[in-house]
Amino acid sequence: MEKYIINGGNKLYGSVKIQSAKNAVLPILAAAVLTDGKVKILNVPPISDVKNMVKILSCLGCEAVYEGQNILIDSSKADCFEIPSALAHELRSSVFLLGSVISRFHMAKIAYPGGCDIGLRPVDLHLTGLKRLGVQITEKNGYILCKCDKLCGNEIMLDCPSVGATENIMLAAVKAEGVTVIRNAAREPEIEDLQKFLNCIGAKVSGAGSGTVRIEGVNELHGCQYQPIPDRIEAGTFLIGAAMCGGEVSVENVCPENISSLIHKLRENGCKIHINGDKIVLENHRRLASVKSIETQPYPGFPTDLQAQATALCCICNGHSIITENLFETRFKYVPELRKMGADVTVIDRNAFVRGVEKFKGATVVAHDLRGGAALVLAALAAEGRSEVLDISHIDRGYGSFEYKLRNLGADIVRVTV
Ligand code: EPZ
Repeated sequence: MEKYIINGGNKLYGSVKIQSAKNAVLPILAAAVLTDGKVKILNVPPISDVKNMVKILSCLGCEAVYEGQNILIDSSKADCFEIPSALAHELRSSVFLLGSVISRFHMAKIAYPGGCDIGLRPVDLHLTGLKRLGVQITEKNGYILCKCDKLCGNEIMLDCPSVGATENIMLAAVKAEGVTVIRNAAREPEIEDLQKFLNCIGAKVSGAGSGTVRIEGVNELHGCQYQPIPDRIEAGTFLIGAAMCGGEVSVENVCPENISSLIHKLRENGCKIHINGDKIVLENHRRLASVKSIETQPYPGFPTDLQAQATALCCICNGHSIITENLFETRFKYVPELRKMGADVTVIDRNAFVRGVEKFKGATVVAHDLRGGAALVLAALAAEGRSEVLDISHIDRGYGSFEYKLRNLGADIVRVTV
């Protein structure tokens, strides 16, 4: 196991280049299974979710190899429709492969997916959508078994704008016969990026980002070279870290419009934020004012993946805040760890009630999931004294070179094997 040792209190200065988006790269890797053409995905983040997804592609018989920061995929020799349970359990995005594998083999077998323990995370919307395309599905002994004679386009209405279900149905529909329309589709930027990638390999997809996605089935796909969008959650994490520690930080290679909800809140806190093209500069040299409330919503609302980091910020602001988590049932597991650092925060159902304190105190805390773990690191960086953050494998799932990027900004953080 590995941990971070952090001596808090340093202000952060300098610039940080944002990685390609984890939640864009993962469905794009799944989409690469659809085509026999060679696919090259550029500047892929060195994170364990991507490494595990590459392992799954190899298990399917795809050739998936790293070439520096890029990944080369050739699925022309793919010959297996079963996703190994050990790998499927490692990450949520293994479920996206259902759509691609069914499209290629008209068969698929996958164990229920893993991912952060932040709620029930059902896959009913994925399966209902695939059934609408003609897939017969049985669930037995923890496996999802799928088969179909052929995939036929259809109208699909999602009960909630699920990111994964939208992506899975898009993938299954690309080579279906006829047209598929997904209504109440997720609007996240990563959905638009998946559409762009699919069209890059010859698919006919439109409407992503609008809430209604239209996929016209095609017979042939080809290869392409693709640069995924920047990671809006990594960018938001660094901006919140700069707000908490104080200083002046420029996050570069970002799409500011993709985190406008966070920028609005940070300005409400009193941060000075300057936007210039793909750069966002945040400056702060004082204790910030609290924001009255933060409510997570599907895009373009406040992202659930920044909820933990924003709560950590609220804990050292001047005043009271209420943070409401509307997407996942148990996404406050990091709160007891923040309380060890002196936070005054109480969770009741889906609400965290925060009374701001002057400073966090250094402590030993445990990461329970990816974004909660990142929030604990930010709290430790802003704290007085020494902290240890344990079980940082959760953080490695989504943040590449995290401690290097933070050290380059002046943070006192080291990774230690225990
Ligand atoms: C994606 O997860 C992201 N993961 C999550 O990021 C992100 O938090 C989430 O979207 C919401 O934005 C990836 O893209 C790999 P959902 P996903 O389906 O697809 C309910 C991170 O930290 N739902 O949009 O699993 C579900 O219970 C991770 O990077 C159903 O009811 O999220 C939840 O309440 C964490 N039935 C809501 O929808 C279903 O079949 C949103 O889930 C599917 C989902």
